Amino acid sequence: MFIKGLLLRNKLKPKLLRECLVCRNVGWFANIPMGEKDPIFGILDAFLNDTNPSKVNLSIGIFRTDDNKPFVLECVRKAEKIIISKNLDKEYCVLLGGSPAFQKHNLDYTLGPDCEYNQPGRNICFQSLSGCGALSMVSQFLSRFFPGRKVVYMSDPTWPNHANVLESMGLETAYHRYYDAETVSLDFCGMMEDIHKIPKRSMILFQSIAHNPTGFDPTPEQWNEIAEEVKKRKLYAIVDNAYQGFASGDSDKDAQSFRILAKHRVKFALCNSFSKSLGLYGERIGSIIFLTDSQDEVQRIYTQFIPLTRANYQNPPLHGRRIVEEVFTNPELSKIWKKEVVMMAGQLKNVRQLLVQNLKEAGSKRNWDFFTTQIGMFSYTGLSPQQIERLSKEFHIYMLRCGRLAIPGLTTKNVAYVAKCLHKVTSE
Ligand SMILES: Cc1ncc(COP(=O)(O)O)c(C=O)c1O
Repeated sequence: MFIKGLLLRNKLKPKLLRECLVCRNVGWFANIPMGEKDPIFGILDAFLNDTNPSKVNLSIGIFRTDDNKPFVLECVRKAEKIIISKNLDKEYCVLLGGSPAFQKHNLDYTLGPDCEYNQPGRNICFQSLSGCGALSMVSQFLSRFFPGRKVVYMSDPTWPNHANVLESMGLETAYHRYYDAETVSLDFCGMMEDIHKIPKRSMILFQSIAHNPTGFDPTPEQWNEIAEEVKKRKLYAIVDNAYQGFASGDSDKDAQSFRILAKHRVKFALCNSFSKSLGLYGERIGSIIFLTDSQDEVQRIYTQFIPLTRANYQNPPLHGRRIVEEVFTNPELSKIWKKEVVMMAGQLKNVRQLLVQNLKEAGSKRNWDFFTTQIGMFSYTGLSPQQIERLSKEFHIYMLRCGRLAIPGLTTKNVAYVAKCLHKVTSE
């Protein structure tokens, strides 16, 4: 109406009209490139619009109950009751990096109490907006202050958001080999060969445990070799710690990768998330830990992190931090948490075994053992995009086109159906 009115009123030709619209500041962003659909949220849309009762969502890494219902940990529920009973205020939190208790327990939980870097002057710990917020802040910091090459090497494949976060913050990205599609296993030799070629004083991003999307992690012995090579190449590491506890059910065991790096004195920034380990997905709570050499270095990083925080979100959120603090500092809640982590990791392992068993029972002659050698929330299946499309179109089973299957979407109720369909698309 507005455009037609303009044309008639002013007897304008369309070309002139365009100039006129620009002059009037109409449609500032009318000509920007259309963004691509997010691979996960696009699939989620398709899943939500599917009305078939047998539909299964194997696209997203959120732990659920065996009835496929959202799961809130008992230790979190109890912590929230305690927090409410304290009648706390909602004022801005002045400790931008988190309270001393939050920081201390984060350090013990991740680095462990015996780590050389878990003492004053050897680290700085800062509250973050979960794992992704930690990666984003660390990337901004490195983009401004890293004294070497501002290129970050990552596993191929990796969580697609890694490149998005790092590049958005001004860092360059590159890849090293990680996964062998032929054998559906970790390509450790390829990885080491590629790391050996990384120019000195570059950066490398590691996933600490339960690698997303492949589900394959290096062994502790291999981490020792990696640490040696990283040290030789003088690389700075970013460690993404999104799934501590989810691989073995033991938080200390799952922290081995970066504890080994620390033992070899590889310097890193750890990006720690409580989304999965405490089921606090929407609360956005995590932490950043830099390993340092002196109190002076701590102060320099800290004083640069304050303006970064102010620029990004001004003040950190309170509720998630209070929950984490309560669970860490209350021995009864800590005990419940430990048991719940064991339970969550156990459920994922169990359903992996059930899937392999059901595939055999469905008559599949393929080797599906990788489902049980992989670990954590994800499995790289080696399925082709065509097979994945058949799964969604014919059988209402949704997973990522790259072949990643999210294990938490499997339950004891749907695993036989999923196995039958997987067998169908891989045998016909
Ligand atoms: C490998 C990896 N890193 C980081 C994250 C960040 O998660 P959050 O920001 O919820 O902590 C995720 C979440 O899926 C992930 O898979």
